[in-house]
Amino acid sequence: MDLQGKRIIVTGCARGMGAATMRAYVRAGAKVVGMDVADETGTAAAAEANALGPGAASYAHVDISSRASVESAFDDAVKRLGGLDALAHPAAIQRSSNAGDVSVEDWDLMFAVNVRGTMLTNQVAYRYIKAAGGGSIVNFGSISGQRPEPGAAAYSASKGAVHAWTRSAAGTWGKDGIRVNAILPAMATPMYLEARARSTPGELTASHWRNHASIAMGGVYGDPDRDLGPVMVFLVSDASRFITGQLIPVDGGQTSVR
Ligand SMILES: NC(=O)c1ccc[n+]([C@@H]2O[C@H](COP(=O)([O-])OP(=O)(O)OC[C@H]3O[C@@H](n4cnc5c(N)ncnc54)[C@H](O)[C@@H]3O)[C@@H](O)[C@H]2O)c1
Repeated sequence: MDLQGKRIIVTGCARGMGAATMRAYVRAGAKVVGMDVADETGTAAAAEANALGPGAASYAHVDISSRASVESAFDDAVKRLGGLDALAHPAAIQRSSNAGDVSVEDWDLMFAVNVRGTMLTNQVAYRYIKAAGGGSIVNFGSISGQRPEPGAAAYSASKGAVHAWTRSAAGTWGKDGIRVNAILPAMATPMYLEARARSTPGELTASHWRNHASIAMGGVYGDPDRDLGPVMVFLVSDASRFITGQLIPVDGGQTSVR
């Protein structure tokens, strides 16, 4: 699939799925501005993607939880790109929290970044994509937003909110030719590895039965470049022009969405 001429913003580009998505878009010929709070690694990731060609990538700082930051970063990026056709929005955080003792601080942090950040980036992107005549927004949900999550209650609630927002935004903006979908991934990224590093041996065993055993494709988390990149290209390309409002697992069969 060819993304020649497409102008795309990718959040969370410093590592993990954001970095892999940026690489996939540059390989497919798109012009990309990657954004993150982690400026040093974000700049390096954009330079690495840019070197792949035939498209191009550059970096900009954003804090997705702040309206002022999103508006100024997106305004600058759109000037740089000459317009906007798509937003890929993987940026998020994850913290452990038990439903019985989740703190207000943990709750507010997760909702500020994961939920407010999705609303703000989508809303600001919507204005520019509408002006360009339509396009695509790809959010990131989670299996955690679909099922009980005893070790990550606030994260689970925040991802459930991302799912609901994605459906409402798709239902509202379809008339403007803007599609909004959410990926539910299972990929071996730093976020996944950090969660495993925090786990006790007992938690790792529980995680095997909870998270890995149902992955039909070999019981292992995917590779972001090989397993996610092509799907991200498809979802911003014209080939997916009639797909909107969907929660799309890219997880080797870990979950099914009904
Ligand atoms: N890894 C998995 O298997 C998995 C499973 C389910 C859902 N997800 C979701 O997929 C998405 C990508 O996950 P990942 O594993 O690549 O994560 P990651 O932690 O590797 O990368 C997230 C990126 O977001 C950036 N970020 C964090 N807060 C930010 C802020 N306020 N403003 C701008 N950038 C910010 C981080 O600096 C980081 O570069 C996330 O939404 C995550 O919740 C991941």
